[in-house]
Amino acid sequence: MKKLFVKTYGCQMNAYDSARMADLLAPLGYVQADGPDGADMVILNTCHIREKAAEKVYSEIGRLRVLKAQKAEGGGRMLLAVAGCVAQAEGEEIVARAPAVDLVVGPQSYHRLPEMIARFSREGGHTLAADFPALEKFDALLETKETGISAFLTVQEGCDKFCTFCVVPYTRGPEHSRAPQAVLDEARHLVDLGARELVLLGQNVNAYNGGGWSLAKLCEALAKIDGLQRIRYTTSHPNDMSDDLITAHRDNDKLMPYLHLPVQSGSDATLEAMNRKHRAADYLRIVDRLRAARPDIALTSDFIVGFPGERDADFEATLQLVRDVGFATAFSFKYSKRPGTPAAALRSQVAEDVKSARLEALQALLGRQQHDFDDGQIGRTLPVLFEKPGRKTGQLVGRTPYLQPVHVEAPSAMIGQLASVRVERRTANSLHGSLV
Ligand code: 5AD
Ligand code: SF4
Repeated sequence: MKKLFVKTYGCQMNAYDSARMADLLAPLGYVQADGPDGADMVILNTCHIREKAAEKVYSEIGRLRVLKAQKAEGGGRMLLAVAGCVAQAEGEEIVARAPAVDLVVGPQSYHRLPEMIARFSREGGHTLAADFPALEKFDALLETKETGISAFLTVQEGCDKFCTFCVVPYTRGPEHSRAPQAVLDEARHLVDLGARELVLLGQNVNAYNGGGWSLAKLCEALAKIDGLQRIRYTTSHPNDMSDDLITAHRDNDKLMPYLHLPVQSGSDATLEAMNRKHRAADYLRIVDRLRAARPDIALTSDFIVGFPGERDADFEATLQLVRDVGFATAFSFKYSKRPGTPAAALRSQVAEDVKSARLEALQALLGRQQHDFDDGQIGRTLPVLFEKPGRKTGQLVGRTPYLQPVHVEAPSAMIGQLASVRVERRTANSLHGSLV
């Protein structure tokens, strides 16, 4: 038995990929450990979207190098692999800068890990796989062995949109959708293992077009799986919010009334400079259509403040869009340069203190909206899917259709079940209620 530690950075797509890598290595005798001490293999599954991502990975490698040397002193060996988007972006550069790294594997090449490990054991040296073959990796990956009540399922990867601030089109490659049959097979398998909710993942998940199927059609087929209670998907782009997907929110009972739809800015000038290919009014129109189809739909979004050239009036337009829409929750970031992206080269960078002030103002507004949204559930009776035990004994944690966590006194046998819960109060980050 060998110990495997996978450290995951960044998005849900990475969490999914980490689980698949662990599945893939299980037949080679690797069992997952909670930390890197004494591990026979450590995989850093990296993310490139935040600032100084690569630097953080290099300093983590520096720490692991010490553990690796200790293991070697004891006559053992710790394999160190860098996976994910930093692996894709940096490639051979990683091995040049950090010789402690044995394997570099990009997001499209995970299925080659066992082969890479074998080759490495035979030949030593460093092994690199960071090209962009199509998405066949999923079909090569072994079946999942374990799942929670809510399971991620990747249906699409990559992005062709090239927003000028973003590295994803460079690190994850072009848009590609998995075949619907492969998705349905994996979905049935996850439900057999106990999953009751599927979260379909993709960088542009609503651009899904596997085998000519739209995402709405895929959700319709998934909804027929007995035992599956809920379907969610993330992350969507406004331009791919097609009519059939909007009506699916009305017609497909299992599709949850919740949508993460990043807008980034409320200013047309900024949206243009970001190459977002939609305007603020387009976004508001989509929101209207969604609410016409599903009046209670909870909307969430991503925002960037301080994009190069953003003036006070542009930022004000973002605040106005937030007031007009009313979000259930949202993520907001200060713009930060990503090397190699067009916006990083713009001369009109916004001063740091201006970015900080804008972020604070935006987060204050979004925070108030989130509290209003959560308070709006108090007194309502909602279907809650119980996912796991709560921190206190006798308590379970479940989620409302709007993805809010709710703490409820309930027997542990109810994990995996949907039940009606009356929401009674809100604490800082969660709701509390009781079974009806
Ligand atoms: N600076 C700040 N935020 C960014 N994001 C992506 N790239 C950058 C960047 N260069 C944010 C976007 C995206 C989310 C995942 O991360 O809002 O939707
Ligand atoms: Fe990045 Fe834009 Fe693609 Fe989203 S749509 S992954 S922000 S390039």
